[in-house]
Amino acid sequence: MEKKIKRIGVLTSGGDAPGMNAAVRAVVRTADAYGIECIGIRRGWAGLILSDFVKLSGQDVGHTLSRGGTILYTARSEDFMTEKGRKRAVATCKMLGLDGIVAIGGDGTFRGALELSRLGIPTVGIPATIDNDVGCTNYTIGFDTACNTAIDCIDKLRDTMQSHERCSVVEVMGRNAGFLALYVGIAVGATAVLVPEHELDFQRDVVERIQDSRLAGNTHFMIVVAEGVGSAVEIGKRIKEEVGIDPRVTVLGHIQRGGAPNARDRETATRMGYYAVRAFAEGRGNCIICTKEGGIVEIPIEEALAMKKHLQMDRYEVMEAMQIGSKVIRK
Ligand code: F6P
Repeated sequence: MEKKIKRIGVLTSGGDAPGMNAAVRAVVRTADAYGIECIGIRRGWAGLILSDFVKLSGQDVGHTLSRGGTILYTARSEDFMTEKGRKRAVATCKMLGLDGIVAIGGDGTFRGALELSRLGIPTVGIPATIDNDVGCTNYTIGFDTACNTAIDCIDKLRDTMQSHERCSVVEVMGRNAGFLALYVGIAVGATAVLVPEHELDFQRDVVERIQDSRLAGNTHFMIVVAEGVGSAVEIGKRIKEEVGIDPRVTVLGHIQRGGAPNARDRETATRMGYYAVRAFAEGRGNCIICTKEGGIVEIPIEEALAMKKHLQMDRYEVMEAMQIGSKVIRK
């Protein structure tokens, strides 16, 4: 990538996440600062295939920093999985004179970026997903806001559970990962947290935890279930059968993806957007902008996609130890 970059595209793809707009804004404003033109591609990779675009100036992204969702819209494109679709996307890049694409999203988005880079279009990825399940980066934009949204909902649920002396089973998102569930579970003082990374022993992980809590004097119980474990409704049914109490089940669902991004997401998204454009401006590309020990690093896309991130199971132990009457450490 020796030639001077004149124009880049920016898109958001996959599930939206609070802070995506902050990242788009940072890309556009940084490009402006470098004298690079910026084209917004609407509806992710699908928009690149269909030439669905809008020219973006620094002014156009004003008042978007605090907005949830994505002003560029987002989609999951099946057409982009095909060679024909990707060739059409390359044709759009050539027609628009794009020297590179900044793709904001999760692993699926980055697999698309890798394919496009193999066809000669330089790409840079910015990790944004409420799941925090992208292996190459400590943090993904949107995770903290989603945690806080879930915490806010569960705090409200706790009020009514406590009044009625009930058990609540709450399903949180996270796809196949338990980051969201475990962080939220610790923060709300859950009786039990079920995550896909921990093999479920229903008797030990649910029944005994409710019983121990009850013996310690508690009369309401909060069970947080990561969607990757299975249906909270089924967990609720098993609790009724095996503990003999009648839980109320709440699936938080897409509410966790909405809302204004919080400080961490605005700040991280802004830094990531800045470094993405800087990579292009300095002649690099085909990398993901990642957080590492508080700083930002660039990791080549192929290497980044091969990296795995594991849920820190010491956090699971912390969660278990927090319950009054918990016997987990003594056992
Ligand atoms: O990846 C973000 C996420 O919200 C996951 O937590 C969830 O499994 C999935 O997207 C839901 O996708 P959709 O918006 O297609 O229902």
